[in-house]
Amino acid sequence: MSKSIQAVRGMNDLLPDVVARWQRIEAAARTALAAYGYREIRLPLVEKTELFARSIGSLTDIVEKEMYTFEDRNGESLTLRPEGTAGCVRAGIENGLLHNQVQRLWYTGPMFRHERPQKGRYRQFHQIGVEAFGIDTPDVDAELILLCARLWRELGLNGLTLEINTLGTPEARAVYRTELVRYLESRQAELDEDSQRRLHKNPLRVLDSKNPAMQGVIAGAPALMDYLDDTSRQHFDALRGYLDAAGIPYKVNPRLVRGLDYYTRAVFEWTTDRLGAQSAVCAGGRYDGLVGLLGGQPTPAVGFAVGLERLAELLALDAGNTTDTQAAQAYLAVLDESVRPQALRLAETLRDQGLRVEFNCGSGGLKAQLKRADRSGARFALLLGPDEAARASVSVKDLRHGAEQATVSQAALGDYLKQRLA
Ligand code: HAM
Repeated sequence: MSKSIQAVRGMNDLLPDVVARWQRIEAAARTALAAYGYREIRLPLVEKTELFARSIGSLTDIVEKEMYTFEDRNGESLTLRPEGTAGCVRAGIENGLLHNQVQRLWYTGPMFRHERPQKGRYRQFHQIGVEAFGIDTPDVDAELILLCARLWRELGLNGLTLEINTLGTPEARAVYRTELVRYLESRQAELDEDSQRRLHKNPLRVLDSKNPAMQGVIAGAPALMDYLDDTSRQHFDALRGYLDAAGIPYKVNPRLVRGLDYYTRAVFEWTTDRLGAQSAVCAGGRYDGLVGLLGGQPTPAVGFAVGLERLAELLALDAGNTTDTQAAQAYLAVLDESVRPQALRLAETLRDQGLRVEFNCGSGGLKAQLKRADRSGARFALLLGPDEAARASVSVKDLRHGAEQATVSQAALGDYLKQRLA
């Protein structure tokens, strides 16, 4: 026998049991997004490499070492999207969705980053991304955060922490950058290898280092907050005011810098201490310069993305809170070949009434069929043999609560099952 082929490292199968949890998240997100007037957009998985280099930034980890980039048969450099914002902006410009209008959009699907896989960090992972275009004022930043909070509530997730920061305008950040580099140079001997590399290329990312040995250096660094321009400060203060008024707790984290270059002004992250090192479940912020940078009319924008693997793992920790909406509610066992046509018809009638029914296709004695019924996860086994067929009834066995077997007329069966399932 030849050796079986394995999945690509860091790219996972999502098996049916896990998918139930994902569907619950997706359904809750769809409802929440619609409640705020966000509309779905579907975008290609592959874009021109230049789109990401220009928007995410050529000196970021993502663009420098994590992209799945390849030449297609025409020799054009293409990349599997490492995130969704760049493609969403590209599509918005290309289809005339952004100029002089407000657009609230969302998307979902797989993203690809060649990171070192570990728990909560994968090479193919999934996001729900949400983007608001054409609004300059911080009420929309607050709206996006309220949307997240609503989703966590809807999913029964407590204990997520909101951290916010402001990165200022690019001009204010440039002044700060000079000061930061001066400071880091003065302590160069204490910098680890990663920080040495980032010192001149992307010094703000030094502040993001998780290395415990670097924390002393980081604590002594000048704070971006002290270099802020007035408009960014006002924007940030107003956002804080809205969050206070809405009763959303948050921490201001001056070290929150984000790993993508397009951000300006307010940024935020929702984190958890229940997933180990990969603690960010959702992250985003403003990117007022990106539409212009990609060739559109300057348009303010703000958004975030939720990491679905991390959210699903978080949900799994509170086991028992997800009902599987794919699993059958009833399993129809056929006790004699002569009744199979009637049984098929009965299953259809029950489905017409909105019930999920798994039919015992193929053969099998009563014992084997009951075993399959149990494995299907269904609450009820419905037994149809010649006796039942003659009386237009069904024997109903509750597989989960060990109650007596009941005989129910086929005409009343749908209502009977729905009542028992309620
Ligand atoms: P990001 O912080 O790179 O932002 O990713 C957002 C979220 O995606 C993270 O907080 C995390 O939950 C999840 N995530 C990222 N990388 C991985 C991975 N390798 N494995 C599993 N989950 C991961 C963005 O992507 C921006 N486009 C967000 C945004 C939208 N900003 C404005 N609009």
